[in-house]
Amino acid sequence: MLGFGERLGIDLGTATILVYARGRGIVVREPSVVAIEKTSRRVLAVGEEAREMLGRTPGSIVAIRPLRDGVIADYTVTRDMLAFLIRRACGNRARLLKPVVIVCIPSGATSVEQRAALDAARAAGARDAFPIEEPMAAAIGAGLPIGSPGGNMVVDIGGGTTDIAVISLGGIVVSDSLRVGGTDLDEAITRHIRRVYNLDIGERTAENIKISIGSACRTEDEEQEMEVRGRDIVSGLPQTVTVSSLEVRDAISENVSQIVAAVKTILERTPPELAADIIERGICLTGGGALLRGMDRLLHLETQIPVFIADDPMSSVAIGTGKALEEIETLQRRHALAALRY
Ligand SMILES: Nc1ncnc2c1ncn2[C@@H]1O[C@H](COP(=O)(O)OP(=O)(O)OP(=O)(O)O)[C@@H](O)[C@H]1O
Ligand SMILES: [Mg+2]
Repeated sequence: MLGFGERLGIDLGTATILVYARGRGIVVREPSVVAIEKTSRRVLAVGEEAREMLGRTPGSIVAIRPLRDGVIADYTVTRDMLAFLIRRACGNRARLLKPVVIVCIPSGATSVEQRAALDAARAAGARDAFPIEEPMAAAIGAGLPIGSPGGNMVVDIGGGTTDIAVISLGGIVVSDSLRVGGTDLDEAITRHIRRVYNLDIGERTAENIKISIGSACRTEDEEQEMEVRGRDIVSGLPQTVTVSSLEVRDAISENVSQIVAAVKTILERTPPELAADIIERGICLTGGGALLRGMDRLLHLETQIPVFIADDPMSSVAIGTGKALEEIETLQRRHALAALRY
């Protein structure tokens, strides 16, 4: 019986976790970072508070990201993080009746990885947990007409994975999940700065560089420069260098090309009728990576298909999961009606 109690949609992302509560919208949006005490493995902080500690913790505390490449890398920590966030989302309501949750899963996740995510949600206090494929949630959240008999293409560029799918009549026709996302771009920037400037930078600095001056291709914006602080590898002392948008584009180009190539491959595998719809409707970009300057332009140049970014792309998956929560109810009602009839 699902009728009563709280219902949550959880976007268990590599970079950010969002929780959508039925009737209330997005109630939690936190970086997927947990600070734990090393010896006892006790959770000390979750989300933004833990993120502040990344790379800055004393010996007895570690700040970790329990999800890698879109899937659970550390089960226990993920469970504890979910328990914390579910409690935060429900407040007192959860005490009466545990919530039913939908968890989104990258389309490339194995059945073991999917089961781990659902088990973690149940162990974290959910009464029951259902999966939804991440690109499906992204398409619903972006408001694409996925129920109609026409092709819709969504490209969700997250922190750990890029999910690409063509959806028609509410089902995924072709899809791919690439283990390349924003985090890989950050790492490419870190490697570049280390190699060229002998400078070690932290992951937050690398992400900052990407967001401030990173781009997928040349855009109408002028090239920019940015001062970057880190630690000199040779002297071990703090150091500042100036980095240009041109070299950042170059540093991330290989990963960006992988995303473009995967989109092209999916287009090649798309049945012609659906491809014709996509040419007309365009490709929809969601996820934080959709905000990389010039990503839409590059995809358009490479595919000759219109490309548009969803409103609020970083919330698309959570909103879609939230809308799917309503579907559980519709399905249930249908079951109930069917039961009355027989
Ligand atoms: N303006 C921006 N330009 C470029 N990248 C950005 C921008 N804003 C956010 N990002 C990147 O988007 C990524 C996070 O996106 P998102 O929240 O969709 O990921 P996620 O859902 O947590 O990950 P996944 O779906 O892979 O598990 C991060 O790598 C972040 O650096
Ligand atoms: Mg995501």
